Amino acid sequence: MTSDISLACIVDDLATRGWSQQKLFVPQSLTLALADECRRRAGQGALAPAGVGRGEAQQISEGIRGDRIQWLEPGQAACCDQYLALFDELRLAINRSLYLGLEDYESHFALYPPGAFYQKHLDRFRDDDRRAVSAVFYLNPDWQAEQGGALRLYLADGSTHDVLPEAGTLVVFLSADLPHEVLPATRERLSLTGWFRRRGEGLW
Ligand code: OGA
Ligand code: MN
Repeated sequence: MTSDISLACIVDDLATRGWSQQKLFVPQSLTLALADECRRRAGQGALAPAGVGRGEAQQISEGIRGDRIQWLEPGQAACCDQYLALFDELRLAINRSLYLGLEDYESHFALYPPGAFYQKHLDRFRDDDRRAVSAVFYLNPDWQAEQGGALRLYLADGSTHDVLPEAGTLVVFLSADLPHEVLPATRERLSLTGWFRRRGEGLW
């Protein structure tokens, strides 16, 4: 269902500069269904404050990140299964060209209430280097720049690149290399955030 062209662009961007931004990587009807699903789950109270850190050291810290999340499991909703299938195609395309040996994809819905942010960080944990490639897919129709909420990427050349969380926009980047932050917005900000993971050293 994905076009081979956008898969090739993403893979090419990752290889040459470590990040990629795409518009409408998935069909618009699927993006809208995912936004509805995210709002439905939020309405049911299924999204919980996101933690910082991993395992037992994990803490809730709204001073660092203020989003609410729920991890996706296969078989919960057709739209989520379609999204996971598309990202599996992307995983295989990255493996074919970049030999990263990505084994799986973990992903969660994220809802940032107005004013919430996520301070500048890297996605790779100090004690776990399995996260190799980060992917954020946005679900917000008609996002205006004045509404804030950009994802700010801190690029290797010292410049920054802001991505508005407009529905259908996908950002993909190497998890270990690219510091980034989420700026506060004046409206609710929905996304699906995920990580392609490699086999962990010594853990298997
Ligand atoms: C994250 C993250 C970015 C975004 O969840 O680690 O950086 O734009 N999200 O939501
Ligand atoms: Mn991040």
